Amino acid sequence: MNAVEEEERSAPTERAPAKVLVKSYGCQMNVYDATRMADLLGREGYAETNSEEDADLVILNTCHIREKAAEKIYSELGKLAIAKRALNAQGRDMKIVVAGCVAQAEGEEVLKRQRAVDLVVGPQSYHRLPELLRQAKKGARVADTDFAVEDKFRTLPAPSRAQIRTRGVSAFVTVQEGCDKFCSFCVVPYTRGAEASRPVTEIIAETKRLVDAGVCEITLIGQNVNAYRGLDVDGRESNLARLLDRLARIEGLTRLRYTTSHPVDMAQELIDSHGAIPKLMPYVHLPVQSGSDRILKAMNRKHGADAYLSIVEKIRKVRPDVALSSDFIVGFPGESDADFEATMALARGVGFASSFSFKYSPRPGTPAADRDDQIEEKVKSERLAALQALLEEQRQAFNAATVGREVDVLFEKPGRHEGQIAGKSPYMQAVHVEGPTELIGREASVKIIAAGSNSLGARLMSEEAKA
Ligand code: 5AD
Ligand code: SF4
Repeated sequence: MNAVEEEERSAPTERAPAKVLVKSYGCQMNVYDATRMADLLGREGYAETNSEEDADLVILNTCHIREKAAEKIYSELGKLAIAKRALNAQGRDMKIVVAGCVAQAEGEEVLKRQRAVDLVVGPQSYHRLPELLRQAKKGARVADTDFAVEDKFRTLPAPSRAQIRTRGVSAFVTVQEGCDKFCSFCVVPYTRGAEASRPVTEIIAETKRLVDAGVCEITLIGQNVNAYRGLDVDGRESNLARLLDRLARIEGLTRLRYTTSHPVDMAQELIDSHGAIPKLMPYVHLPVQSGSDRILKAMNRKHGADAYLSIVEKIRKVRPDVALSSDFIVGFPGESDADFEATMALARGVGFASSFSFKYSPRPGTPAADRDDQIEEKVKSERLAALQALLEEQRQAFNAATVGREVDVLFEKPGRHEGQIAGKSPYMQAVHVEGPTELIGREASVKIIAAGSNSLGARLMSEEAKA
């Protein structure tokens, strides 16, 4: 037995725990996966850290959706490689793991492109991390990007109360993963695989555990969350509307949200939930991508602009105060000025509370990337600037319209200034008030008194101020 093994056996508890830093990029699915990985590694004895210098293990949970996002990972890895060399020079080591969608899409390529990477692990293999890390510690450089046969969620350990508590009052629960839609611009069907839903009982159990530990807002997440088709308790297939209805009955849970939805799966039953379930927050993120029927068809979105507008109308009918948000892509191959104008017209017609907009980025392996009518960068930039100006104007208008209204705010943290606390309105707006820190973790009524560019100022209603 060598000296190191001897020390490990004789005094295991006296050594400082190994530290892990999980850095997440991209969508909420990655944020959720990052917490699950941290929970799993917590069980393996790793403590979480926010600092690279402290970390024995750094996991980059990556995004592949646009070229910029993927390239950012390689520049981040370059920096980590330098840090790793500096640590090695001091006789310490840092294992570097690439997880998430870049791992899935590029696999072994990542190991080749950056020598400092020890391990590449795809989104369906996280539960195998402990074993993979053991191999890495022995010096192996492994890429595991299999779509595992065992259910990742069932194999991952549930977080402890203490782990949940460190993460605040709002939590994500993945209910569905993957995508069968194959929009012609998108890598997700290739990186996250086919649509798969978790059973209702599993989701209820996870939600109850979170609520018992103090969480009061749950956001159900999935690449196509409204295509949710999990097994119900009675053995039949459920849907998102029914799942929301069940979860809303959990005592102590005060807010429910879901994201991201596809227009074709926006069933009437789900729309009706917005009128029937008071805990379901009046906020719907419904990506439209384009307002031009011709481009929507080329994108393989399977609906036209009118269908989108009609869904918006139906949601507003049952929940008139609903806030809508969307994703847009400008400069899809073949997009003409008239097509782009149709996108601007759709946005003007709806009036979004907040939105994300992107320049089309050709992704390897997707049909749109092979088209020979790609749009010039300069045109994409001009269109993006015009669309973003409009969407920003709409966001400000939406915020301004809430001034004078009474809303419930879920307080999450101390505010920027002494004596202030900050939280979220039902419409996902950041709200600041003068108030006691005891309200953090609770909902209270406020009156909105001012709209700043990124947050709202409010006053607690008198009973809450006394509380
Ligand atoms: N280029 C630009 N934006 C993209 N998105 C997905 N793929 C691409 C791409 N190739 C955007 C879509 C989607 C969001 C998550 O990212 O708007 O809704
Ligand atoms: Fe990508 Fe379309 Fe699937 Fe959304 S619905 S993940 S944009 S392929």
